[in-house]
Amino acid sequence: MDQSSAKFIVDGNAYDLPVITGTEGEKGVDISKLRAQSNYVTFDQGFGNTSNCLSSITFLDGEQGVLRYRGYPIEQLAERSSFLETAYLLIYGELPNAEQLRSFSEAFTENSMIHEDMKNLFNGYPSTAHPMAILASMVCSLEAYYPDIDTMNPNPEEFDQIAAQLMSKIRTIAAFAYKKSIGEPFVYPRHDLEYVPNFLNMMFSSPTRAYKIYDEVVKAVKVLLILHADHEQNCSTSTVRLVGSAQSNLFASISSGICALWGPLHGGANEAVIDMLEAIHKGGGDVDHCLERAKDKTNPFRLMGVGHRVYKSYDPRAKIIKECAHDLLAKLGIHDPLLDIAMRLEEKVLKDSYFVDRNLYPNVDFYSGIIYKAVGIPRNMFTVMFAIGRMPGWIAHWREMKDSPGTRIGRPRQIYVGPHKRDYVPINKR
Ligand code: CMC
Repeated sequence: MDQSSAKFIVDGNAYDLPVITGTEGEKGVDISKLRAQSNYVTFDQGFGNTSNCLSSITFLDGEQGVLRYRGYPIEQLAERSSFLETAYLLIYGELPNAEQLRSFSEAFTENSMIHEDMKNLFNGYPSTAHPMAILASMVCSLEAYYPDIDTMNPNPEEFDQIAAQLMSKIRTIAAFAYKKSIGEPFVYPRHDLEYVPNFLNMMFSSPTRAYKIYDEVVKAVKVLLILHADHEQNCSTSTVRLVGSAQSNLFASISSGICALWGPLHGGANEAVIDMLEAIHKGGGDVDHCLERAKDKTNPFRLMGVGHRVYKSYDPRAKIIKECAHDLLAKLGIHDPLLDIAMRLEEKVLKDSYFVDRNLYPNVDFYSGIIYKAVGIPRNMFTVMFAIGRMPGWIAHWREMKDSPGTRIGRPRQIYVGPHKRDYVPINKR
């Protein structure tokens, strides 16, 4: 807690408000007692200027394009860490030693299957169901299969078990949802494969087709999962915290986060980017027309994969993903015209005063779909991939929220602007 304070002056009265300073020097004014003192609330649509918690998980400086998990720069983790190691770091706060990583990984293997009865749930969905709908429902349904665990207030051992279940089973559920959509039999997880190859094998092998796992593909998917693993108080993570603050169980809280992620302004943007690039391609490759539509204030169209609430410079994740997309396509010998279109679009965005003046740069979703497409992941699974990556972040935030002293149920205020009191009129008199 900082010694300094801010002053709020209203209606001739002055109120001292405590100032909080974060470890990287970020300043916040604590207004939690403001209404009790002054009868005023603050107004901040979209929470663009509101901190809901103190967090020690991820640091982000949107002006400088900095992103760190537990202090470690994202560039180093993407290059040198594994997804499991990064997940451990996010959830438990420190990089694991060899024994900790081994037992974390073993817990994943033990928890990779889903209850056989859950397979019946998949059969209830039409083959056209969006995999995000299946994923959110299945993750919430997982709770029903563990009646002996306190999923609302787990003890440390129970928490470890739920965390491993969620991280491991989301991958199995995702692959099963895909198999269901193409009418192929489910492929079970294998104990001899690591996290990413295991997932790719469940997705792409079948009783009549072996799937060759390429190192380049595994590396690209691993990098994407690490880059998606956390992003502090984004829409889905805030949803997980908000739902969890009502003491909803961990499965239900994360299922709500998956629903939030689905939206095209959030994780669903990766799917929308490819739709947009493909539409440009089909229309003859004219990127200018697309830019004009995005700039036209009478048109609701937005350039997908561009802009960010907190990044006011180049998203550091997009920089890594762009390089990764180039590497992967070169190694696999793929020429994707959508990558050319994306690069032309980016070049124009970086020079166009509309985007420059508003600090709009490509974000994490701009190039990620091109990698998923090269790997063979269908478009409606792109946001599912984001969800698999974001799982450790959601779990870490749920736990931090539970463990933080002073956590209260999330319950924003509003400023009512509806009708004044009026008397009910029966229907025959209206
Ligand atoms: N295309 C055209 N104009 C845009 C765009 C865009 N993609 N993004 C923002 N703007 C304009 C917006 O119209 C507004 O202009 P003005 O000041 O003239 O009214 C200004 O830039 C500020 O935009 P905003 O809507 O106030 O910004 P926000 O912080 O509320 O929204 C955003 C952030 C990410 C939702 C938005 O930039 C957007 O819709 N981008 C496209 C969708 C997208 O790529 N989403 C993925 C985000 S990154 C992954 C994740 O975190 O999930």
